[in-house]
Amino acid sequence: MKISNDYKFTKDELKEKIILVTGANRGFGRAITIDLAKAGATVIMLGRDLGSLEDTYDKVVKLNYQEPILYPLDLEGATPEHYAQLAKDTLNHFSKLDGLIHNASIVGSLMPIEQYDLKLWYSILQINLNAPFMLTQFLMPVLKKSSDARILFLSSDVGRNAKAYWGGYSVSKFAIESLSKILSEELENTNIRINSFDPGPMRTKMRSSVYPTENINNNPPPEYKSKSVVYLMSKASKNLNGEQLTLV
Ligand SMILES: NC(=O)c1ccc[n+]([C@@H]2O[C@H](COP(=O)([O-])OP(=O)(O)OC[C@H]3O[C@@H](n4cnc5c(N)ncnc54)[C@H](OP(=O)(O)O)[C@@H]3O)[C@@H](O)[C@H]2O)c1
Repeated sequence: MKISNDYKFTKDELKEKIILVTGANRGFGRAITIDLAKAGATVIMLGRDLGSLEDTYDKVVKLNYQEPILYPLDLEGATPEHYAQLAKDTLNHFSKLDGLIHNASIVGSLMPIEQYDLKLWYSILQINLNAPFMLTQFLMPVLKKSSDARILFLSSDVGRNAKAYWGGYSVSKFAIESLSKILSEELENTNIRINSFDPGPMRTKMRSSVYPTENINNNPPPEYKSKSVVYLMSKASKNLNGEQLTLV
């Protein structure tokens, strides 16, 4: 299903909402964090690099948007105990969670499966798939405390159409699509709505690492696309569940 990026939101659109964003320090995660805070949500900013997390936090505060919370965590090394602690901290601090945005991902180098680097394969599946699975499972009881919760899985065109050389990244995004669909059916009769979302090409580090010769200015900056995520966390998108969303 296609969605557009022309959503106009008010500054109180997501007031009282608590939303966790992974990879909130830079790229699309940073843009999403800033727009969610602009719409009044309290963002739990999860990321592994404290310096850039603080930089995004400072930007939000400087703009006078809703103050976020920093949650430093490396999703590659995180264990079930870390996720249990995160769920406990969220429950103690906020009593509920209204949104969980699985944005953090790595792509690695493109290479044929025959020569695919084993360590990279494991890292990709850990960060892009196992971490979102565990985060979702541990945070589910906290999401169920919300009256209207959302889980959003960031996906990609190669998570829907496999392409040579995209290896672990493509496999991880196909699996994310499956996880999203399974969850949307299993939780159909609850307060939680689950969708996957392909934002299309953006001017980020990930894009330039895969297309080093491309003129990066040909792609829109992530701030151009993040309003769509405010829409996907808002009441306006309440009827979307189990969809494979694509930004047009
Ligand atoms: N850019 C595109 O053109 C495009 C197109 C389609 C889909 N997407 C999807 O959109 C999402 C955001 O992509 P992006 O372009 O913003 O990528 P990006 O610029 O490479 O940012 C990736 C984010 O993930 C974080 N991350 C990576 N490994 C992590 C780990 N082990 N623990 C915690 N955080 C970790 C990074 O943190 P560090 O700063 O610490 O590395 C960074 O915040 C991804 O899911 C991607 O698949 C992007």
